[in-house]
Amino acid sequence: MDFDFDIPVDRQGTYSLRWEKYAGRDVIPLWVADMDFRSPPAVIDALRRRVEHGVFGYTLPPPELSALIVERMQRLYRWAVHPDWIVFLPGVVSGLYLAASRLTRVEEHILSPSPVYYHLFRAAQTAPRAWSDVPMVLERGRWVWDEDRLAASVLPNSRMLMLCSPHNPGGTIFSRDELARIAAFAAQHDLLICSDEIHCDLLLDQGKPHVPIASLAPEVSRRTVTLMAPSKTFNIAGTGFAFAIIEDIGLRQAFSFDLKKSVHDATLFGYEAALAAYRDGQPWLDALLDYLRGNRDLLEAAVARLPGVEMAHLESTFLAWIDCSGLGLADPHAHFLGHGLGLSPGADFGSPRFVRLNFGTQRSVLGNALVRLERAVLDARRS
Ligand SMILES: Cc1ncc(COP(=O)(O)O)c(C=O)c1O
Repeated sequence: MDFDFDIPVDRQGTYSLRWEKYAGRDVIPLWVADMDFRSPPAVIDALRRRVEHGVFGYTLPPPELSALIVERMQRLYRWAVHPDWIVFLPGVVSGLYLAASRLTRVEEHILSPSPVYYHLFRAAQTAPRAWSDVPMVLERGRWVWDEDRLAASVLPNSRMLMLCSPHNPGGTIFSRDELARIAAFAAQHDLLICSDEIHCDLLLDQGKPHVPIASLAPEVSRRTVTLMAPSKTFNIAGTGFAFAIIEDIGLRQAFSFDLKKSVHDATLFGYEAALAAYRDGQPWLDALLDYLRGNRDLLEAAVARLPGVEMAHLESTFLAWIDCSGLGLADPHAHFLGHGLGLSPGADFGSPRFVRLNFGTQRSVLGNALVRLERAVLDARRS
């Protein structure tokens, strides 16, 4: 089956967070992490069937969804997950906040990478817990943990390590060896690992597989909360569904005790969309990844040609992490906005000299954005 990701989709008037932000302005919104593509036809059909049924009452998680997730973990990662280990959630972000607040004590300390998707460290701040950010460093063209700084940052009361794998922003797909070193570090200091793996299916570099850190060994699994979702992968973030995998029963009970008082159930549309996506979405996903690779290559080539901006090769995701240090701008985000590009400010992730560009859009839109990017860069160089 062919999927045409070039077809324009008008998202205006659909309450899209991404598009409403700059509604009525000549700004291309390339910020928050959803894509401008229609979801897999299988998902759209499943939701249509559910809508036709016409009754949208309280809904239980479908048992076949647990079975699909178990089968998926086994097939993709050779990770034997028991259905009881799965906790359904309305979103991964809820899982981050639950993990930080429920699995650490008030006097304990959390380690988080930097830069990183802001809800990882905000979960620690909100709990509230003492926390330290540990810089990621660019090593041979990849954003990786600074393991010396990690070792220097751990405190006697450190209890949890936040991991974003693959990494947002920066797109690193961590290798088995890199993850094994993180896991060994966690074991050495008796840390829990809260691993946000929402980007695990968006693998652009072929031959670099995703490895869930919990799948490395049972003793790693027992100290890990893994958070996953089909939402980024199949562009269904608005349907409200994610899941945690927590092997250890004590951790799982603490995480999910009286869950309803803290977070809403996943939604019935989330369940339906997830079922259809995991069951029938793979051909669409394969085609999507090809398309995103094309977009990434265009963007990387454009950035390489421009003076004053740089980006590391992106192994995964549709979120480019662009270093604007060479432009000497106090506020790169504001500068690009002034040139009609709505990017995510790097400051949100912990690195003000960066911007993050979402290239999950039609190539024609990206092409227009690249023209604006070039103009903005050249203007900054002139001033
Ligand atoms: C690393 C990461 N985690 C979580 C989320 C959001 O998760 P959810 O919408 O399931 O709460 C995002 C969205 O950009 C993300 O990049």
